[in-house]
Amino acid sequence: MRTFSVKSFGCQMNVYDSERIAEALAADGLIAAEEGEADLLVLNTCHIREKAAEKLYSEVGRISKRARKSGTEKPVIAVTGCVAQAEGGEIMRRAGAVDLVVGPQAYHRLPELLRAHAGGQKDIVDLDMPARSKFDQLPARVRRAPSVFLTVQEGCDKFCAFCVVPYTRGSEASRPLSGIIAEATILAQGGAREITLLGQNVNAWRDPANHSADFGTLLRAVAAVPGVERLRYTTSHPRDVSEAMVRAHAEIPQMMPYLHLPVQSGSDRILAAMNRKHDRRFYMDLIARFRAARPDLAITSDFIVGFPGETEADFEETLSIVDAVGYAQAFSFKYSPRVGTPAAEQDDQIGEDVKAERLQRLQERILANALSFNRSMVGQRCDILIERRGRRPDQWIGKSPWLQSVVVTDAALEPGQIVNVELVAAGPNSLEGRMVTMTTAVAW
Ligand code: SAH
Ligand code: SF4
Ligand code: F3S
Repeated sequence: MRTFSVKSFGCQMNVYDSERIAEALAADGLIAAEEGEADLLVLNTCHIREKAAEKLYSEVGRISKRARKSGTEKPVIAVTGCVAQAEGGEIMRRAGAVDLVVGPQAYHRLPELLRAHAGGQKDIVDLDMPARSKFDQLPARVRRAPSVFLTVQEGCDKFCAFCVVPYTRGSEASRPLSGIIAEATILAQGGAREITLLGQNVNAWRDPANHSADFGTLLRAVAAVPGVERLRYTTSHPRDVSEAMVRAHAEIPQMMPYLHLPVQSGSDRILAAMNRKHDRRFYMDLIARFRAARPDLAITSDFIVGFPGETEADFEETLSIVDAVGYAQAFSFKYSPRVGTPAAEQDDQIGEDVKAERLQRLQERILANALSFNRSMVGQRCDILIERRGRRPDQWIGKSPWLQSVVVTDAALEPGQIVNVELVAAGPNSLEGRMVTMTTAVAW
């Protein structure tokens, strides 16, 4: 086995894990290749909604079929991520082409498990959640990119009634501050100008080596790493917001004016049934505190429609909270019953047609808010971090401080540059910018 390819199916933490898996395999001597040419395929899966697991099985089917058709040997298939943790060996029974199943806390062992597989061991399953963290055993980061993810916290103790994460990722655990700063330093030295700290409940972070150091302390420490010019974090939970975290938005210059604070529903009755541990009032008070600290903050959320028992009146409260907050953007999903979670057992499930109709209405409302948020920026100037090429060869796409995609036409730009633009036009999902000045020129 000489070449590998890793495919990510999940959230940003899943993407981060995929990068670390790729780095661990490369450190072990394997070479990254295109998916169709790799001897080893790692499918890093997500379990959050029904379709996420279905994607895995259709992907495995597609890979096997492709190998059969071309008369080549099937690649070794390793399934990692949250479906691996939730379904374990069942995956091999359902998809015989899968060779290894490795959970999200055990993937640092992938090189040794692959050696065991090469030595003839069949159907390898490792779902261990070892006491010694994978972060202490993975090789140092080598990724070089203008904007990077850095996982600081994993797992969840909140047990929202709809959610699998506490079961697939385990209980809340924070990485020590020293390891996070070491990783941030390497990433910044490699050219990263923007770091996004990740965690299922990122603001529940506490230094395991010093419990008085909370998320506010962490934000300050990462902002102080030389080269870190932009700092973001996701996903935070309303219950874990501290005053230090709110103040960070007013006091830390690198802190971007952006906050993803999922509310899930606007109805107190549904929030209680979801076991969210906050009501609408508590959430709206938080929004007011954040806005007082940083008036231009872009706020985004996740929503679930059609949670068991949701009435039309409950749903209208969700529509009304979208307008009350004035979200800059939001993700919205139809409730998907997950085996093993309390909400899946409820007998007041909502029909698919009702869910679909509510989702459409919610998305229209979100889109209208996003459009008015983006339009309100037209005429302003801001710095954007250039990340990748646009559709046309002379177009580039960068990120505004409010995490909007901004398209600029200027053939001479390069990824990693921060440039000042005037925002000249806005749609619901992106804006158009016109170059004003090159703020800082960093050849990437
Ligand atoms: N820890 C984060 C969310 C992680 S999961 C938080 O509490 O906000 C990402 C999103 O997936 C959730 O915010 C929720 O909107 C959605 N989600 C989770 N479980 C779901 C389910 N069973 N059906 C539909 N959407 C779900
Ligand atoms: Fe899931 Fe709730 Fe935990 Fe978020 S807080 S990961 S939605 S259980
Ligand atoms: Fe999916 Fe696991 Fe992330 S279930 S959303 S990959 S934490």
